[in-house]
Amino acid sequence: MHPYVNHLNFPSSIAIAPDGAVYVAETGLPFDHAPKGGRVLKVNEDGSVQELLSQLRQPVNGLVWHEHGLIISEGGFPGRISRYDLATGECKTLLDNLPGFGNYHTNMVAIGPDNKMYFGQGAMTNSGVIGADSHDLAWLREIRHEADIPGYDITLSDYAATVTDPEGRQISTGAFATFGHRHVPGTRLAGQTPATACIMRCQLDGSELELVAWGIRNAFGLLFLPDGRLIATEQGTDVRGVRPVWNCPDFLFEIKPGAWYGWPDYLGGKPINAPVYRSPQGVAQEFILANHADLPAVEKPLLAFDVNACAVKMVQVPARFERAGDLIVAQFGDERPMTGPPGPPVGRNLVRVDTSDWSLHQLPVFPWHRPIDIAFSPDGEFVYVVDFGDFEFTAKKDIVARARSGGVWKIPADYLELKIMSPVSFEKDIAPLFNQFRASMMWRLDLCKYDDVRINADMILSQIDGGGMPPSPYPPLTSAQITMFQDWMKQGYPR
Ligand code: HEM
Repeated sequence: MHPYVNHLNFPSSIAIAPDGAVYVAETGLPFDHAPKGGRVLKVNEDGSVQELLSQLRQPVNGLVWHEHGLIISEGGFPGRISRYDLATGECKTLLDNLPGFGNYHTNMVAIGPDNKMYFGQGAMTNSGVIGADSHDLAWLREIRHEADIPGYDITLSDYAATVTDPEGRQISTGAFATFGHRHVPGTRLAGQTPATACIMRCQLDGSELELVAWGIRNAFGLLFLPDGRLIATEQGTDVRGVRPVWNCPDFLFEIKPGAWYGWPDYLGGKPINAPVYRSPQGVAQEFILANHADLPAVEKPLLAFDVNACAVKMVQVPARFERAGDLIVAQFGDERPMTGPPGPPVGRNLVRVDTSDWSLHQLPVFPWHRPIDIAFSPDGEFVYVVDFGDFEFTAKKDIVARARSGGVWKIPADYLELKIMSPVSFEKDIAPLFNQFRASMMWRLDLCKYDDVRINADMILSQIDGGGMPPSPYPPLTSAQITMFQDWMKQGYPR
């Protein structure tokens, strides 16, 4: 099997229009002499591409279709979010001067049920303090970069670190400060918008920018579930820099307005000095905030991915499949030894997350390099997977990347073990199932009337699935009959 679109330079994002048109964004990162500056491309049916936009501020991290336009997230520097009108070709800046020039960037947008644009803004550092590790980051190579900006009011502890600068000098440095600087212990920094390590939102025209939640290190992937819950992937803290953290997985969080996700002192709900995050020699990191009690209670993750898996963007399985409602998450894979000790490859695959119990399941692997984004065709027949391309690190932390090695895979959905549900209809399947019980339940609802069953579907399901309906002496419904009722719900209650 081969990629559908070939020879892309380090793409990060895919957007599918309701008519099936496919758009892809390249990050614009100039590895291996790839041209600098992001691009947005339209993919023709034969897999060839046509350029719509170029010279975007690298890295372009997000491309989302919305109302006949594309919403583009440019990482920096500074970060910018703009809208490209597909009808007129006009590109309008919605937000500019977002925090930039640091470890992570302005990430993809998700449109909420309130019709606002939500997006993640990554941290400027690994764990709150700028160290020589920023020089090792392939896309940064610089330690004199911006400091993190808190979203909530914080008080700093007496934390300080001694770092060797690139000229070999020993320098004292602190948290939420540029390299080589320290705030006085007890300094109070006011929460700001825009902040870093946060989720923000604004109106569709970019106005009324506000903070949604703070303390999420790098929310690269965002998705709204149909019930309105906002879900985000977070890339866990690395073993690098002056405040290295061991064994920190990536996480999936539900984003709640006003919540604190814990970074830089709590990771995945656990304190940074927890035994699991200590070095093999038992060294624990100290807190850099002195006012945990003033902050909201630390949020717990929905699930932890593998350490270094690099969980990025995700998609929800559409209604026609048995796994409808589950998430498929792309895992970019480890960037060791830049982000952790050497070890076997991790990630570089897709995983399925069951949203009923937040369990994690493996999916078949294809000969891609690093999956980074994923989308379904509107009819659900195909899954598009964006492959960032060949991008590895040597033992000396040098990059080995190959320009034009990225692409897009177009995979029949059943290759990802997604089985189409047999269609269930009310008239043919559900009404006949309930017919013999109709008379007994007429006092409450008509089990053979579409509207009655649809409105009461959740309650009916809980009644037939262990709730005692139909009552003895009738035998309970079989599990196949219960599954059929659930499938009818998942398929959107067909008549
Ligand atoms: C909205 C969901 C439902 C509620 C709240 C509900 C509640 C009840 C209640 C309170 C009774 C009378 C007390 C009892 O005999 O236990 C009853 C009777 C009954 N229900 Fe339901 N029920 C629901 C759905 C169903 C469904 C889906 C079926 C069939 C699959 C069913 C079959 C029956 C039968 C056969 C009786 C009569 C038992 C008898 O008189 O021998 N019910 N239901």
